[in-house]
Amino acid sequence: MERLKNKIALITGGNAGIGKAVARAYINEGAKVAISGRSARDSDRVNALIDELGEDVLYVQADVSVEEDVKNLIEAVIKRFGRLDIAINNAGVASESKPFIEHTTEDYDKVLGINLKGVFLSMKYEIIAMLKTGGGSIINTASVGGVIANPGIAPYIASKHGVVGLTKIGALDYAKQGIRVNAVAPGGTESEMLTEWLPGELIKQIAETHPIGRTAKPEEQAGIYVFLGSDESSFMTGSIILNDGGYTAK
Ligand SMILES: NC(=O)c1ccc[n+]([C@@H]2O[C@H](COP(=O)([O-])OP(=O)(O)OC[C@H]3O[C@@H](n4cnc5c(N)ncnc54)[C@H](O)[C@@H]3O)[C@@H](O)[C@H]2O)c1
Repeated sequence: MERLKNKIALITGGNAGIGKAVARAYINEGAKVAISGRSARDSDRVNALIDELGEDVLYVQADVSVEEDVKNLIEAVIKRFGRLDIAINNAGVASESKPFIEHTTEDYDKVLGINLKGVFLSMKYEIIAMLKTGGGSIINTASVGGVIANPGIAPYIASKHGVVGLTKIGALDYAKQGIRVNAVAPGGTESEMLTEWLPGELIKQIAETHPIGRTAKPEEQAGIYVFLGSDESSFMTGSIILNDGGYTAK
């Protein structure tokens, strides 16, 4: 199966969790893949990742909340592969869970800086690159928390609702120029984010809040990203695809 044959794809936060599963799926479908993450290029974590995914993968250390890093990231992709066809803006962090009024401005700025400004900056430089080659597909990782609210995590909910907004406006602004912008809204998925965020007992409880009775494996999110990156979704833009085990159907 080579639904993404010779496509050049960038996955931010591609060194862990959902992003890593998407990177694997993209490589299996024939794409050439660049990945960014916070870890240093020569860290044990990145070395293990390159061993797993293959030497053809480009890894760039970049903090998505820093404009210069994002600019350098896109430049590095173009330098290595010549263009950018698919961009997956997936890097993100969780909020601590506490009452609304206990969230500090620092909490808010940190989460919004990565989850929302990070997507804005990434989209901006990806669109600039894609306009030069006639278009592309941008896929943002939102969340069920971008469509409904969960108690206690105000900065995260604000950031992911913002990602849904950026997805829609990006789609409208560039529909005529061949750039499609869509988002995936996962429900609870077994990544480091979930395990670091929630103690084991709470993860069980979260699993039970999904009508399907469990959380997802990262691989169960990856297929939607393949679909949105491929020509199979050529008429789709501005869409938010929920993949949440029935969570938002309640
Ligand atoms: N796991 C879930 O239950 C779940 C549910 C809905 C949405 N999401 C979203 O999925 C995305 C991926 O999360 P995950 O669950 O795979 O978590 P994860 O913690 O395994 O991966 C997060 C990735 O983001 C990167 N990252 C974090 N801050 C960064 C920064 N400042 N600059 C660059 N990279 C940064 C990390 O390096 C890592 O690769 C996130 O946007 C998250 O909000 C996750």
